[in-house]
Amino acid sequence: MSTPLLVRALRGEPVERPPVWFMRQAGRSLPEYRALRSSRSLLQLARAPELTAEATMQPVRRHGVDAAILFSDIVVPLVGVGVELEIRPGLGPVIAKPIRTASDVRRLRPLCPEEDLPEVAEAVGLLRTELEVPLIGFAGGPFTLASYLIEGGPSKTQATTRAMMFGQPALFCELLERLAGIAAASLRAQVQAGAAAVQVFESWIGSLSRPQYEQYVAGPTRALFDQLTDLDVPRVLFGVGTGHLLEAMAATGPDAIGLDWRTSVADARERLGPGIALQGNLDPAALLAPWPVTEREARAVLVDAPETGYIFNLGHGVLPSTPPETLGRLVELVHGHKLEAIA
Ligand code: CP3
Repeated sequence: MSTPLLVRALRGEPVERPPVWFMRQAGRSLPEYRALRSSRSLLQLARAPELTAEATMQPVRRHGVDAAILFSDIVVPLVGVGVELEIRPGLGPVIAKPIRTASDVRRLRPLCPEEDLPEVAEAVGLLRTELEVPLIGFAGGPFTLASYLIEGGPSKTQATTRAMMFGQPALFCELLERLAGIAAASLRAQVQAGAAAVQVFESWIGSLSRPQYEQYVAGPTRALFDQLTDLDVPRVLFGVGTGHLLEAMAATGPDAIGLDWRTSVADARERLGPGIALQGNLDPAALLAPWPVTEREARAVLVDAPETGYIFNLGHGVLPSTPPETLGRLVELVHGHKLEAIA
């Protein structure tokens, strides 16, 4: 099989048009997902290979996106190593016993994907035969996972997390190193089972200053990427509100950076140079406006985009109230992009 468009774009190779996929393309914006989910929890879905495969394929079938992303959640590998948690609808992951002490951190053991989460590789295996587009594997970044474990649940400011960073810096580093190891093991297993690219969702790093990011998070992130170098699949690093962190993120070694809507693609390209691909960054809220507005905003992103090393996406996940038709129209718009430019 020839190299998929997504993989070529992530590697900065020539492409006929930008590939398009959406973060959180599977999930509540789709009625068929809500039907699948109505009688079971998200964790049950994520641990049943046939259902995982079905949820992964739903947005590909409906929207015609150029990539699938494995249906799962960033906290699934934590469940695999025995962390007690639930995902509360409308809220997010809630941890039964938040991590605060040295013994809490040391209880967090390494992930052994074959034993702890064999169903993930099984789901990827099913998808490998059924999908006609490449599959993106993913994991949570060390800071984002740490923030859920320390806060005990979603937090707007990550204040308890940063308090631990200041108050117990050595312990905080140890926690991030362990989490980077868990993320790397999970991604390796997904790639070995058939994922063609991986994305690290380091969603909440925007709450750190650049010196804080460089001192505490860049090291474990680099270690995470280093553990995947031999696999020869492109690696994306995404975070929200990272305009002040881009150079430091790029220095950890990903092949691409995912941008939110606050930083323009042109600005990021100018700062990071052509050696790293860029992904993003239409504001997900623009998909809730009437189509002419969504279209105008999408075109503004595309006009800004470089010819190579660019993947169209949103600046964060699809909002649950997004009309599915709007996602389909966006895919058509991006697919027609180069043809229009030539005409
Ligand atoms: O389509 C895809 O992108 C794949 C599936 C996916 C999910 N979670 C499924 C999910 C992915 C890539 C994630 C990543 C994830 N999970 C992140 C990083 C991405 C981001 O948004 O920044 C984070 C921070 C989480 C933790 C988490 N899980 C949150 C904050 C929530 C939302 C709570 C809510 O209900 O609004 C979840 C739950 C979750 N994960 C849903 C889905 C489809 C919600 C729907 C449901 O409960 O069925």
